[in-house]
Amino acid sequence: MASLSKRLEGKVAIITGGASGIGAATAKLFLQHGAKVIIADVQDALGHSLCKTFTTNSPIHYLHCDVTSDSDVKNVVEVAITKYGKLDIMFNNAGISGDSNRSVVESDEEDFKRVLEVNVYGAFLGSKHAARFMVPAKRGVILFTSSIASLLGGETSHAYAVSKHAVVGLMKNLCVELGQHGIRVNCVCPGGIPTPMLNEALKMNKKETQELLCKVAVLKGTVLEAEDIAKAALYLCSDEAKFVSGVNLVLDGGYSTTNMSFNSVLNGLMDNCTNNINSNNHA
Ligand SMILES: NC(=O)c1ccc[n+]([C@@H]2O[C@H](COP(=O)([O-])OP(=O)(O)OC[C@H]3O[C@@H](n4cnc5c(N)ncnc54)[C@H](O)[C@@H]3O)[C@@H](O)[C@H]2O)c1
Repeated sequence: MASLSKRLEGKVAIITGGASGIGAATAKLFLQHGAKVIIADVQDALGHSLCKTFTTNSPIHYLHCDVTSDSDVKNVVEVAITKYGKLDIMFNNAGISGDSNRSVVESDEEDFKRVLEVNVYGAFLGSKHAARFMVPAKRGVILFTSSIASLLGGETSHAYAVSKHAVVGLMKNLCVELGQHGIRVNCVCPGGIPTPMLNEALKMNKKETQELLCKVAVLKGTVLEAEDIAKAALYLCSDEAKFVSGVNLVLDGGYSTTNMSFNSVLNGLMDNCTNNINSNNHA
């Protein structure tokens, strides 16, 4: 068992979408915990500059990899095997929100296909190529980033909601198949975080996104950050979670436990009632 300060000592991890947001925070944390990290992304400049922020010879590398390309994903897994002789962790995290249009009538079918291609097919390819080496090794962890859009309807585009439900379905199916080979499969399921993906989807800057998220949060007094998802990923990928498989681990401060519409309409009615009483008293 790895020490508490180095919970991934000697493990080899690939993180897709690791150049930004949740993936970048996870890459940093995994490295601190002794993992050898390969970031697979399409933002080459960002990926390379992230790697340069670590001391020379730190075991973190960037590889261009479009997760929708079978040959790119195959290549990144084979680089890990050639360089380190094994692959312990495949974090299928890359994702896009797509067009934020919520109308099915006005939806763009190319956008729908692209969201499913990146978020679902990309995650499938990552799992497939990782499993090619994890199955014979009889060990490994596959982790996905789902979303509270896998639990709640109506808050995102149809394409995004479908894609994140599908990611959870893929996780569960793989959990059963690959459990036979000692491989654990899970999801981290984040609530809203002001990463470039969400800021662009909402057409807001980071501060505006954060303010919106604070207003709608169930849990007050703190905010969800990419680093919090990284910590959950660290747990799920470490030996401490050795019997945890098939889990969609929700990190949303309780947001998905409730539906605030009732309270907000009720509070609106109470405010109207109070205003009416006040204006009658002053008449
Ligand atoms: N930010 C949120 O509120 C939130 C909430 C729930 C789930 N998520 C999920 O978290 C994951 C990470 O997103 P984030 O919030 O960190 O956003 P982000 O935009 O900071 O990071 C996403 C990364 O994925 C990469 N990417 C996109 N398409 C790719 C492709 N075809 N091949 C390889 N890489 C690709 C991007 O270049 C980027 O670096 C996504 O799966 C997203 O759906 C985000």
